[in-house]
Parts: sequence; structure tokens; C-alpha cells
Amino acid sequence: MTDISQALPGFGDFDGRTWLNTAHQGALPLVAADAARDAISWKVAPFELTTERFSGVPARLRAVLGRLLDVPSDEVILGNSASYGLHLVASAFPWQEGDEVLVMEGDFPSDILPWLLMERRHGVKVVRIRPRGRVVEPDELAAAITSRTRVFCTTWVHSFSGFAVDLDALGTICREHGVSFVINGSQALGARSFNLTEAPVDAFTCVGHKWLCGPYGTGFAWLRPEFRDRLHPIKAYWLSMQTAEDLGKELVEVELREGLGARAYDVFGTANFLNFVPFTAAVQHIVDLGLERIRVHDQALVTRFIEGLDKDHFMITSPTEPGPRRSTLIFFSHRDAGRNQQVYAALSRQGIHFAFRAGSLRLSPHLYNTSIDIERALDVLTRER
Ligand SMILES: Cc1ncc(COP(=O)(O)O)c(C=O)c1O
Repeated sequence: MTDISQALPGFGDFDGRTWLNTAHQGALPLVAADAARDAISWKVAPFELTTERFSGVPARLRAVLGRLLDVPSDEVILGNSASYGLHLVASAFPWQEGDEVLVMEGDFPSDILPWLLMERRHGVKVVRIRPRGRVVEPDELAAAITSRTRVFCTTWVHSFSGFAVDLDALGTICREHGVSFVINGSQALGARSFNLTEAPVDAFTCVGHKWLCGPYGTGFAWLRPEFRDRLHPIKAYWLSMQTAEDLGKELVEVELREGLGARAYDVFGTANFLNFVPFTAAVQHIVDLGLERIRVHDQALVTRFIEGLDKDHFMITSPTEPGPRRSTLIFFSHRDAGRNQQVYAALSRQGIHFAFRAGSLRLSPHLYNTSIDIERALDVLTRER
């Protein structure tokens, strides 16, 4: 039995308030807040921003993300959002007129919009699969694939329902049909463990500010090297082709460099120290705690909430059975849905932070939450029934 009366270490106490909304924003670990203060001091006295620090910022972030994902660090692409990696794949893919992209109707907008742009620019057709449930099931994907399908893009954990897709089954179908599988892991990575290289995924993108507890404006992508080799270069960023030291040479040679690997796709501003220094510390903290330990803690909180909720007055619409299809996003509604707004307001008044999404209430506990937080929320819900 996991002890969820204690939070995992390293976070603030939130001034007596209860943050149960990590699906919106994760809390920054204290060690990352210290790192951010350090980074600010480099800018207050710019001589502190040494060349070693400047070039060390992307190198250290890449290294820790490589450890998190269990991939070589030089395969990590630094970004600033989940959208960054999705736009990158959409823009760099070798499209031919008439190619098709499959997406899920009702998915998070970042998973649909970049492909719509390609519809305009390259004559690509975006086909929206309308799932019979809340996410695309393997048979629905298989039925939607045609000889023109090139890419299937979906969220791993759906922000608007809390359902996780069957990553392995969907990816296997994509492989069988030669379709590239693009995954947005923003609502999953940090709350569950997985092995990226073993998963049948070609491109993976993730935001940093939710379950990885980083600052806003962070994210990254990973492309399977064979998939990456098929993409067209879409940018020529000087810092990926030269170093800051190169600028000291008498004549700065400017040539397009080939063979940069993943680095060729980095976001501009890779030495973004104010954000990337605390992000590095946050991810290091997650790695140190261990994804499996975090998963067990988070899932125990989810179970506690599901067991304690008064089912006569409320109903849970996200998966309730433990397993890979259940996420850390729990959606529930008063049986009289018209009362949800009132319940949400009552929770907020007590300093208990949930989200109100698509007419339902969403709870998303993470490693800094305890069973006491869950009991506080359940108490309010009991009073509001
Ligand atoms: C599944 C998913 N993807 C992406 C985002 C954020 O997108 P971005 O990082 O591109 O702003 C969110 C939430 O804000 C989300 O729930």
C-alpha cells in the first residue's frame, strides 16, 4: 500500500491552498525556483553569463531530457511548447499533394491546427476520425487508414475527457500500414513511466509546464532517427551551425551545415537561460524521484478520489478502473449537471483548485498532493451534493 498521506518531496506548501489542477499548470519544484533565481542573477550582472554557462544551458537540458526519455541526449529537440514539435513535423514532412493526415475530432487544438495549415499549403487532406467513445480506438484507426494516409496524430491523454489512448495498439497499426505515428504526450509524461524507443512512436512532443513541473514556455520533441531523416530542413539557426565562440574568429564563416541531427530542429534561443535553467532543474527533480514512483503516488490519489466520491450525487465520466487507459485527469459531474458551476465555485471559495472544462469538473492530482487534499475536496463535494 502506498502512503499518500505524505507528498513526494521538494515542493512548496501552497499557503494552505490545494492545487489539484496540474493538467493546467504543474507547480515548480523548490530546487527549480532556486535555479531560476540563479539564472536571473546572471542577467542582473551579465559578466556572470559566461560562455560556459551560455552553451551549458541547452547541453544540460538536452542531457536531462535524454535521461527522462531514456534516449541519447543528441536526439532531443528543444522547444517551447507542445505545438512546437507538432508544427515542426507538419512543416518538415515530405508532403505530396493528396496525402492524408488522420486526427481525432475533438482533440486538443494543438494536435489539429498544424495539419490544417498543410492542407492550405501542400494540398494535404486532414481527415478527422470521430471516435465512438472519447478517444480513437485501434479498429477505428484501422478503418480510417487509406493508401494515401501518411500521418496519424493524436494526444496520448485527452485533455477534455481524461481517457488515454492505447498507444501500443495504435502505433502497431500505423507501423503495419507505413503511417507515421505522432504523439502529443503533454498530459501523460511525468505522471506515467514509459519507454520511448520501445513504443511504436515516430514523433513525440510534450509541453514542459504541466506534469514535468517546468516553467511556462518550455517543451521538447523527439523524432525517431529514421523518421527524422525523412524530413526536410525547415530552418537554419546560426547557433545550431556555429558556436558563440566562432564569432570571435577574424572571418566568421557562414555556410549551411549538414548532418546536425536533431539539433537542426531546435527552437531559436536555445540558451534561453531564464526558462531552461529552472526547466532543467525541474526535470532533474522528476528524474530523481523516478517516474514509476510518481505514477504509483498519483494513481493512488486518483483511486482515493474515485472511491470516496458520492456516486449517488456525482458521476465520473473518465476511466475509473486502474490501468493504462486511466490517466491522472478525472472528469466528473453532478448528476444534475446544471449544478457543476456552483460546485466549482464552492471548491474555489475553499481554496481548492479544480478546473471547469466542457461543463464538467476536472481534478488532476500530482506528486505534491496528498490524501488530505483529496479528503478536503471530497468534504466540499459532500456538502455541495
Ligand atoms: C494535450 C495538450 N497539448 C498541448 C497543450 C498546450 O499546448 P502548447 O504547449 O502548444 O501551448 C495542452 C494544454 O494546455 C494540452 O492539454
